Amino acid sequence: MFSSENILILGIESSCDETAVAVVKNGRELLSNVVLSQIDVHKLYGGVVPEIASRNHVEVIDKVCKKALNDANLSLSQIDAVAVTYGAGLVGALLVGVSYAKGLCQASGKPLIAVNHIEGHICANYLTYQSLTPPYMCLLTSGGHTAVVKVLDYDRYDVLCSTVDDAVGEAFDKVARVLGLPYPGGPQIDRLASEGETKYEFHSVVVSNGNFSYSGLKTAVMNLVHNAEQKGERIVKADVAASFNKTAVDGLIDRLREETVKSGLKTVAVAGGVGANGYLRRRLKEFENDGYTVCLPTLNLCGDNAAMIASRGYYMYKNGEFSDLTLNACPTLKLRGDRPDR
Ligand code: KG4
Ligand code: ZN
Repeated sequence: MFSSENILILGIESSCDETAVAVVKNGRELLSNVVLSQIDVHKLYGGVVPEIASRNHVEVIDKVCKKALNDANLSLSQIDAVAVTYGAGLVGALLVGVSYAKGLCQASGKPLIAVNHIEGHICANYLTYQSLTPPYMCLLTSGGHTAVVKVLDYDRYDVLCSTVDDAVGEAFDKVARVLGLPYPGGPQIDRLASEGETKYEFHSVVVSNGNFSYSGLKTAVMNLVHNAEQKGERIVKADVAASFNKTAVDGLIDRLREETVKSGLKTVAVAGGVGANGYLRRRLKEFENDGYTVCLPTLNLCGDNAAMIASRGYYMYKNGEFSDLTLNACPTLKLRGDRPDR
């Protein structure tokens, strides 16, 4: 038996194209972290096909869960609670994880915890930085969300600005497609950008009210590429990638810096898949020159994983925030504290 100081949470994540299960101790310590990516299947179609994603989750989720328990050297009976992503994400994909988690809880009598995927991404920082505690500033950069967030507590956030159209990860994926790069585009642009020069200038992604807009940047890149094609001019893709990457990231850094200075907080963190971007990480590191503590989750915890869900689940467990077996998927779930007028 484990003492109450050792809370073990089994996390389950299936919101998009990764089937993931992990076991985390006390919200901070990774005991296992299994991620099965479906990228190779979706690559054939140039993006995630929701129906295929759901079917693949169904096929592998039990195997992934057994491996996660096995890697942690634990049985389900030794787990304190099951935490599962119930939104945001693809409804069919989410339902696989939610149904599986409910089945586990029904069979074992363990409590069920419904985790917001975006809150999970923020918690990836607790797994990398054991002593990190709120309040701190966090740049949220995923395929579906882009925001500067003041993390007031483990369950309280103030969303200070966010995107008015596309998310930053979405822009990376769309621009990659324009450049003929395979899915997922973010890592491809990141790699290509490191070989190019930032010789094209695009408008900032920061709009007049301090929010972000990525659709204009995407259109500007498309126009650049198509105009060059029509004129028969050769365009160096690496230069386009580098210029786009810089513009996509610089606006985020500018707004994070402004809000951080205003907040008086001394710690900045990043959350979400685009947090793996090399240029973004270098720009964030620069905050250290001004005396800030910078948290960059390890690369395997930036993208979708279940360890971050288990970490979030731990803090909900401590608050007694449990769900019953009527839990449903919520594809459009927002971060608590997000303002509806944005
Ligand atoms: O957080 P995430 O794994 O899933 C969502 O919750 O959306 O983010 C996925 C996004 C994709 O758009 C992907 O292209 C982008 O993160 N991404 C990157 C990099 N790695 C993943 N974008 C830029 N540079 C990267 N290295
Ligand atoms: Zn995600």
